[in-house]
Amino acid sequence: ADSTIYRASTTAPVNIAVVKYWGKRDPKLNLPTNSSLSVTLSQADLRTLTTASCSASYLASEGDSLLLNGEPSDVSGARTQACFRELRTRRAALEAADPSLPKLSTMPLRLVSENNFPTAAGLASSAAGFAAFVRAIANLYELPASPSELSLIARQGSGSACRSLFGGYVAWRMGSAADGSDSMADQVAEAAHWPEMRALILVVSAAKKGVSSTSGMQQTVATSGLFQERIARVVPQNMDAMEKAIKERDFAAFAEVTMRDSNSFHATCADTYPPIFYMNDVSRAAIRAVEAINAAAGRTVAAYTFDAGPNAVIYYLEQDTEAVVGTFYHVLGDMDGWKREVLSGLKPTLSLD
Ligand code: PMV
Repeated sequence: ADSTIYRASTTAPVNIAVVKYWGKRDPKLNLPTNSSLSVTLSQADLRTLTTASCSASYLASEGDSLLLNGEPSDVSGARTQACFRELRTRRAALEAADPSLPKLSTMPLRLVSENNFPTAAGLASSAAGFAAFVRAIANLYELPASPSELSLIARQGSGSACRSLFGGYVAWRMGSAADGSDSMADQVAEAAHWPEMRALILVVSAAKKGVSSTSGMQQTVATSGLFQERIARVVPQNMDAMEKAIKERDFAAFAEVTMRDSNSFHATCADTYPPIFYMNDVSRAAIRAVEAINAAAGRTVAAYTFDAGPNAVIYYLEQDTEAVVGTFYHVLGDMDGWKREVLSGLKPTLSLD
């Protein structure tokens, strides 16, 4: 029997949304209620490295498996299974068209995945994780798929993952097709278009988030009236304004939309019944610190944004590093518990842990 082990590796970066994805119109296919836009962070700082392998010698009884940071991880979830199924179907079509190809689609898959940042840092890692997962298998299967096509598959693993198939400034267009065939990501601008962009991550808590994004979204869609206003008017406006700000490299406009959109997203969470609070007192102190930094500079040099947890991501431009990062240490340095911490290879990071 053929004992060849077929193997492929890839890395995928973390992305942080400046116009947030929040709400599923189809939970099964991970179709969103609104478009979203993110900035992909540097791979030198935050990325997932994944190796996919398959072999006829892998025991069929063991099935597909995933080792995440050295720990066996459950792959039986519907989202992970959808990714496996989509990728196998595409490989099987290639094998049907060319019988000389090895039948990789019939072999068990083994995935080994490592983050280059502490998992305990409480940073959303599912985006990089599913993007690397999908591309590693696509490479292994030698699928002739573009990043946008792979984003269609990664989207089914974790919505935000579809944006990590591209670098730079990335939009996920919500689409309108019921089967999700037009709900995918595209690149608004390369990182080189605005190379001065930086992100500072304030680790407020490394604890796992209290309400998962899936259940938070479900509750928001079901119970928030404000959410209807957000998806009908606020997000479409923010998408347009954000694309324009990026094209024109207008940091003040980029920052205002980023902060307004984060506020809008967290307002819809507070508007659910019962309310969901992702930010805490330290998160709010970070917002006040950004406002103080901008006031002291006499112009907008920093923008905050928060995902489904208390950690802050602060966007700023390289030339304003001293005003932003320096002042952050100054303002928050006195606060009990703040300490400067440089996570392995990460940009300057403040931690309250
Ligand atoms: O991809 P998910 O299901 O983990 O949802 C991500 C939701 C936010 O991070 C809050 C917003 C976003 O667009 O990334």
